[in-house]
Amino acid sequence: NTQTKLDKYRPQFHFSPKSGWLNDPNGLVYFEGEYHLFYQHYPDKNVWGPMHWGHAVSKDLAHWEHLPIALAPDSNGNIFSGSAVVDWNDTSGFFDGGTGLVAVFTHADTYPDTEDDAYVIDGERVTGRPRQRQSLAYSKDRGRTWTMYEGNPVLADAEITDFRDPKVFWHDDAKHWVMVLVAGDHARFYASANLKEWTLTGKFGASEGSHAGVWECPDLFELPIDGNAENAKWVLLVSIGDDPESPEGSRTQYFIGHFDGHTFTNDLDPEEILWMDHGRDNYAAVTWSDVPKQDGRRLLIGWMSNWKYANHTPTVEWRSAMTIPRTISLTRTAEGIRMVSKPFEELSELRGEPISLPPGTYVAGERVLFDLSGNCYEIEAEFTWDDVTEFGLKVCRSDREETVIGFEATSGFLFIDRTRSGESGFHDTFPCKHGAALQTAGNRMKMRIIVDRSSVEVFAEDGLVVLTDLIFPDPSSMGVALYSKGGEVKVNTFVYYPLKSIHTE
Ligand code: FRU
Repeated sequence: NTQTKLDKYRPQFHFSPKSGWLNDPNGLVYFEGEYHLFYQHYPDKNVWGPMHWGHAVSKDLAHWEHLPIALAPDSNGNIFSGSAVVDWNDTSGFFDGGTGLVAVFTHADTYPDTEDDAYVIDGERVTGRPRQRQSLAYSKDRGRTWTMYEGNPVLADAEITDFRDPKVFWHDDAKHWVMVLVAGDHARFYASANLKEWTLTGKFGASEGSHAGVWECPDLFELPIDGNAENAKWVLLVSIGDDPESPEGSRTQYFIGHFDGHTFTNDLDPEEILWMDHGRDNYAAVTWSDVPKQDGRRLLIGWMSNWKYANHTPTVEWRSAMTIPRTISLTRTAEGIRMVSKPFEELSELRGEPISLPPGTYVAGERVLFDLSGNCYEIEAEFTWDDVTEFGLKVCRSDREETVIGFEATSGFLFIDRTRSGESGFHDTFPCKHGAALQTAGNRMKMRIIVDRSSVEVFAEDGLVVLTDLIFPDPSSMGVALYSKGGEVKVNTFVYYPLKSIHTE
């Protein structure tokens, strides 16, 4: 069956493009009952190419409807990453006093080739060099059709080559629009009254955080700490591009601090680095704009791949998917304030009949579970232990394949081991074991694991540590096992929920 062969890795409840290539989520905005998801898209091939904005909408963040391409390359260049906002009060003047959507994105092209048109930078005439400038497009019909603003581009900087990925939001106290974008090795902040004219108000980060790769895809928002709105901090998300020297590849870091409407000040030590996700495949993650205040969630989604090998993953006709949407928040821990990520609440609507182990089951060695069938599932488990060196779960398991989600109890290290996870030879760095330190409350640990046909997402200790990884198991590897080494682990709770396949291709 060719269809099965072609699509054996096709996610069943994660968003993926119908065909062609996908990278970053773009233009995430909620408007009139719909979550919009635009994405970096090359429709003609399943590798990176001239970028468009693909488009889909959803009412529940789970079921997505594909819509026609929203933005395509024009005379200003290809359409790189960016954001979208609801212009509630027609500050832009695009909506005849009404309301509509404005997309703010990077137009990427090259400086003119001809000497006559050359730009003069530091006394040198520049031709043919990559050029990135910010532009606008607007929609009066709920995102169904888009018009390029005739005054594009609206923001350029001739000196910087990597100048991109604008995220725009309305700042209530400063009463202006804010744009945060990246300029090579730092973030910049601009202000505007009308989305068309922008003034530089601040810079941040040239000597803070990780610079293992170029800075990309920033986001900036305020979050309450432990649900207390009186006590809130600003979070600056910054993705860092691939570092050819290290195995990790592209990753997303975050800073915690204050934003006064003009610039960001960091509460962390300048050299402190906080990763949003400790897996290998959650990049360019950004959050939804204009989610209604009554809902109150800060919803995030990431591109579930890594620039290290993104162009080589073993799918046919289409390539790459998004993570599941997540609700993010802040919590105070012994180490300081940290970001917490949880699967979006609506995911539970996809759950089928749960299968559980009796509470307090002991496991020593390996215990293979029931007759499980299905490639999509969610597991909630809680473990306690006295004397054990390592324990955890094996998913997508067969005689030949397994993906291990383990905890080294003596050192407090949570990991995914995908060395035997299935197809993995397409890049040297793909088969690997990696993870992060996890502080548990005594000898007790909780995990929630979400498995689709080509991914595993692990949320440990209620989302304090997250690992998102691609895997390419054979669809017949449907087994799940519990295991322990060096002693017995007590499984206080273990619930397996099959998840509904809702992919409609
Ligand atoms: C991040 C990124 C962005 C850029 C886009 C191009 O993955 O490199 O910085 O706008 O992808 O597709």
